[in-house]
Amino acid sequence: MVNLDAEKLVAARRAVEFVEDGQVVGLGTGSTAAHAIREIGRRVREGLQIVAIPTSLATEALARSLGIPLTNFDEHQKIDIAIDGADEIDSNLVAIKGGGGAFLREKIVAQAATRMICIIDSSKLVPQIGAAKLPIEVLPFAAGFVQAAVAAMGAQVSLRRKADGSLFATDQGNAVLDARFGLLSNPEALARKLTSIPGLLAHGLFLSEIDELITGRGDQAECLRRSA
Ligand code: 5RP
Repeated sequence: MVNLDAEKLVAARRAVEFVEDGQVVGLGTGSTAAHAIREIGRRVREGLQIVAIPTSLATEALARSLGIPLTNFDEHQKIDIAIDGADEIDSNLVAIKGGGGAFLREKIVAQAATRMICIIDSSKLVPQIGAAKLPIEVLPFAAGFVQAAVAAMGAQVSLRRKADGSLFATDQGNAVLDARFGLLSNPEALARKLTSIPGLLAHGLFLSEIDELITGRGDQAECLRRSA
């Protein structure tokens, strides 16, 4: 039986090897990113000099607890290296992210990063994305309107709720819709249509933001670069 958490750790450790003194580092959200953040924390305690921009309040709290110096986009508008997980990704490095609900900030950090490394366990590398639900962040005022518009595009859409049944809210206080379109033959066209819906603030499709993929497979880290 594959130990997916061990594979996440393998991928995270390899990615953190690329972090260097003096860099601004983007910190992702989720269990795989948390492995990387703990590894960065270990290196900071050993003397690594970096500042980091977290993609969520949870990541900010973890980074603070590990003594990682934090910064923000008022201080630094460019990120040298960002490390984050994904829910599904294909070999063209097109991904679905946002299982943890942090995808709006994750997309900003990914786009600001010169080098965006996605780290995953081997179960997340798929021939075609779309089995995972596609998260969509919406202005609460527009949630019903956006849900109807996305459903009219052929998806099964639900408003994300927490385990206790209350509505999930992002760190920005917005709602999240989870959409199931099935396997995506044209993610670019879907992204364009989604972006045109007013009230829709972000979707979890990452088309071009990811530069490199590191997959933990057993105890090996497999690296894949976006082709030019
Ligand atoms: C959070 C994300 C995560 O990177 C994604 O959900 C993967 O999470 P995990 O590493 O816990 O499997 O996009 O918004």
